[in-house]
Amino acid sequence: MNTFVDDGRKLSALYFIQTPVLSTRFYYSSAVSKFRKSLFVGHNVLKNVVNPFISIPRGFSNTSTDSPRVSMTTQQQAATSSDSSINTADIGLIGLAVMGQNLALNIAEKGFRVSVYNRTSTKTDDTINRFQLEQKNCLGKLQGFYSLESFVRSLKRPRKVIIMVKAGSPVDATISTLENYLEPGDLIVDGGNEWYENTQRRAEALSSKGILYMGMGVSGGEDGARHGPSLMPGGPVEAWNLVNDILNKIAAQVDDGPCVTYIGPGGSGNYVKMVHNGIEYADMQLIGEVYDILRTLSQSSHFDGQLYEIFERWNGGDLQSFLIEITSQILQFKEKDNLVVDRILDQSGSKGTGMWTIQEAAKRGIPISTISAALDARYLSSLKDLRVSLSRQLHGIGTTERNTIISFYGWNDFEFLISELEKALFAAKICCYAQGMALIQKASLDEQWQLDCGEIARIWKGGCIIRARFLDRIKEAYKRQPNLLSLLEDEHFVRDLNNCQTALRRVVSGASLLGIPVPALASALSYYDSCRKEILSSSQLIQAQRDFFGAHTYKRLDKEGVFHSRWSEDGSSIPISNSS
Ligand SMILES: NC(=O)c1ccc[n+]([C@@H]2O[C@H](COP(=O)([O-])OP(=O)(O)OC[C@H]3O[C@@H](n4cnc5c(N)ncnc54)[C@H](OP(=O)(O)O)[C@@H]3O)[C@@H](O)[C@H]2O)c1
Repeated sequence: MNTFVDDGRKLSALYFIQTPVLSTRFYYSSAVSKFRKSLFVGHNVLKNVVNPFISIPRGFSNTSTDSPRVSMTTQQQAATSSDSSINTADIGLIGLAVMGQNLALNIAEKGFRVSVYNRTSTKTDDTINRFQLEQKNCLGKLQGFYSLESFVRSLKRPRKVIIMVKAGSPVDATISTLENYLEPGDLIVDGGNEWYENTQRRAEALSSKGILYMGMGVSGGEDGARHGPSLMPGGPVEAWNLVNDILNKIAAQVDDGPCVTYIGPGGSGNYVKMVHNGIEYADMQLIGEVYDILRTLSQSSHFDGQLYEIFERWNGGDLQSFLIEITSQILQFKEKDNLVVDRILDQSGSKGTGMWTIQEAAKRGIPISTISAALDARYLSSLKDLRVSLSRQLHGIGTTERNTIISFYGWNDFEFLISELEKALFAAKICCYAQGMALIQKASLDEQWQLDCGEIARIWKGGCIIRARFLDRIKEAYKRQPNLLSLLEDEHFVRDLNNCQTALRRVVSGASLLGIPVPALASALSYYDSCRKEILSSSQLIQAQRDFFGAHTYKRLDKEGVFHSRWSEDGSSIPISNSS
């Protein structure tokens, strides 16, 4: 092991002797890239054969379960030994899978010099190759590195590094190596879907070394990362000040500015992204349920058009959004004469941010029933075998009943059905966003983050998956009343809900009678009705039950204080305390 050198110069020298021309600047030569690939060796082979000559970048986990391949090449050695790249890059990016690679290209395209590094070197090659193909006008703006140390050395001080690796322990692993090369005043920005408390833990640990740390939600998937995502950075404001020029340029641009803002301190950036994803789950589920109704009824009613046209039409109105737009596109994709969507296995996946949102809401006592229904619907969809088996045993309704229900609701008139569904979807969407925003407000209060909900709605207007015209109305609502307790209280939403609530009731009841599952629509309706009910009789009874079996006490509507009743005796009410 003592034959290892720190930056691999022995191997560099070896290759330099063999192929002097290749050891000079290398980044944009495809010939070199091909040669590099021919030199590629698996990790074990490399260890066994060229161990005496190379160094594996410090912190590289040989025991990683991901078993990365290690390719030590002329390019790599050039990168580690070249002085010309030192202190030249505006920012560095680690993690070149889907999101990182696209974000790096976006940064370079906006005129910043970006250095990139990935644990497995082939992804660095892919990024360089793609950059050469796609961004001929930006040559020199992106440099790839195969050693973390030289990657860091290439950055201007104070160094700014964005990490786009898998959330959780991979982020810890990356930081534990990276921090060895950083200095006080440098900044790490984690752009992954990270649990906000992990961000806070890391920020605290790094602050003792003077290193700044931010957790930044990035939304918009591959395309957003490449052409303009919605960015939700949270952490110390000094950290934001170091990168806001870059983030403002790479974010999606909408009529009222870039889709990025300083979210707030601590893990607030990750938190807001988490809730964004929760809302996204609900938005998708609501659209899915409406699609199910349309699809089912289009087979039995008189509908001459195509389903995609309905979504296309909706996309020109209040429901305009990315999700409605892509639904319309999806419903046009055919294989031979069949829609691709009809061939897709009906099991929806999830990655964790939806679950976190539910857990957080439960922890903070905030009802987000529509988001929760959406996650449950995904879990239920995965019970495919059970569903197939039960579909043969449990009954729905018969054809005669079905026709009666359709005529009762007037849905033989397909245009009428479409207009009811549009209103129902809009009302449910308001309820779903009200739930998400209420959770953000509660977290902001609990954590003293002082989040600006109007500004958050604004930065979701472009770049992200839930981008929609509707977000402008949310932004305006918070502008009118910054301390709005619930979006349902905003005068414009009150008007919209009053206009659409009958349609939502009819759609939920009609679909239920027809046996079409609408858990998110139904939960939105119940949320709406629960929120607008002055007295919730069910809660009165629950308090009585709790006091009956557990002496949990209750408060009264007609007088102050806390009471317990002798339920199983004479029923008399005993004041426990007079204070409320
Ligand atoms: N995909 C999306 O649409 C999307 C949207 C928004 C946010 N995000 C978030 O953005 C982040 C990146 O997402 P992604 O889909 O591009 O990639 P990903 O599949 O989540 O992660 C792959 C990246 O993580 C690295 N990695 C994995 N384990 C590692 C370890 N132990 N040590 C060091 N590096 C490790 C991989 O390096 P190797 O190549 O060496 O394996 C690769 O660069 C994630 O947090 C994700 O949740 C994703």
